Amino acid sequence: MTANTPTTGDSKGSVTGVTGRRIFSGIQPSGRLHIGNYLGAISQFVPLQEEYDCIFGIVDLHAMTQIYKSKEMSQRIINAAVNYLACGLDPNKATLMLQSGVQEHAELAWILATVTPLPWIQRVPTFKEKARQQPDNVNMGLFNYPVLMAADILIYKSVAVPVGEDQRPHLELTREIARAFNARFGSFFPEPREIIGSQARVIGLDGKNRMSKSLDNCIYLDDEPDVIREKINKQGVTDPARVKRTDPGNPSICNIFTWHGFFSSKEEQAYCAKECRVAGFGCLDCKAILIKNILELLAPIQERQKELMANLDKVQEIIRDGTERARKIAQETMKEVREITGLTYLI
Ligand code: AMP
Ligand code: TRP
Repeated sequence: MTANTPTTGDSKGSVTGVTGRRIFSGIQPSGRLHIGNYLGAISQFVPLQEEYDCIFGIVDLHAMTQIYKSKEMSQRIINAAVNYLACGLDPNKATLMLQSGVQEHAELAWILATVTPLPWIQRVPTFKEKARQQPDNVNMGLFNYPVLMAADILIYKSVAVPVGEDQRPHLELTREIARAFNARFGSFFPEPREIIGSQARVIGLDGKNRMSKSLDNCIYLDDEPDVIREKINKQGVTDPARVKRTDPGNPSICNIFTWHGFFSSKEEQAYCAKECRVAGFGCLDCKAILIKNILELLAPIQERQKELMANLDKVQEIIRDGTERARKIAQETMKEVREITGLTYLI
């Protein structure tokens, strides 16, 4: 597949303009991960771990803002960890941690909430979107979601955060919160920048909306090859104006062609564009090339998923060790935060 190198970076993982060493990003354990998560977020993590001190969080406290069954949470956490590792995260290079295992995240979130003016949160687009999606459950956790996210990032004094495009407003807010804290208590937190790759907004099978679990338009990282074949052939929307096999198509408005840009070689992309424009082949022929490339990319990931699933003790140990390491850093930061905010009476 084509490489997903972080914006303005080099292939090794350095990112121009990022001078510090610590990077944090998080993924909610809210079900299975899809190729949007992979292209937009996880595939960026892998090169970064070569150059930076990366901490990747499984953010279970964030996932609580949606209704879920308590007994399913552990399995979701395992799935997220297995996916991170199967996609190439190396526990010897990066830290994989569980958010609820480091209580300091929630403590810092409270402190940051006290320097965050209400209107800043009211205008966050993701809050409005979630409130629309789950009108019966517009809880305070949803409202506080970006403040907890700022705490996740700032507690490690992170300088950069690799994420998909949808998270940009949260990063802007994180910088504003850091600035507000620094203005009140003295310069302390760095203002982290977002690292947004070239594949930061993957559209789903429907050809219209961002790939998202809630929209049933996903290819999941653990979908079986037959399922992927069937989803792309039956649900994958192409150029809507190309009705018959003999109609010439327009690749520039075809989402399947956009996906070729993520998964296929330059030669295959040129071939598909040409054949489509002259009706030299049909959409199913074009899809067959895409399917082959997606399956090729996913095969080693799925193999590692299976190996890891058969070795859950090892996965648990990685999460435990990573969380412990993260906790030490977070505790150091909170000690300083308590000092500069005057919360030292009993210390
Ligand atoms: P979530 O599954 O919402 O917790 O997202 C985890 C990470 O994947 C975040 O960095 C998102 O920005 C990224 N992400 C989610 N969906 C997509 C998508 N359709 N395209 C690109 N990135 C995505
Ligand atoms: N809000 C992110 C998402 O929905 C998940 C997240 C939580 C996160 N805390 C974070 C991402 C800190 C980056 C940094 O995808």
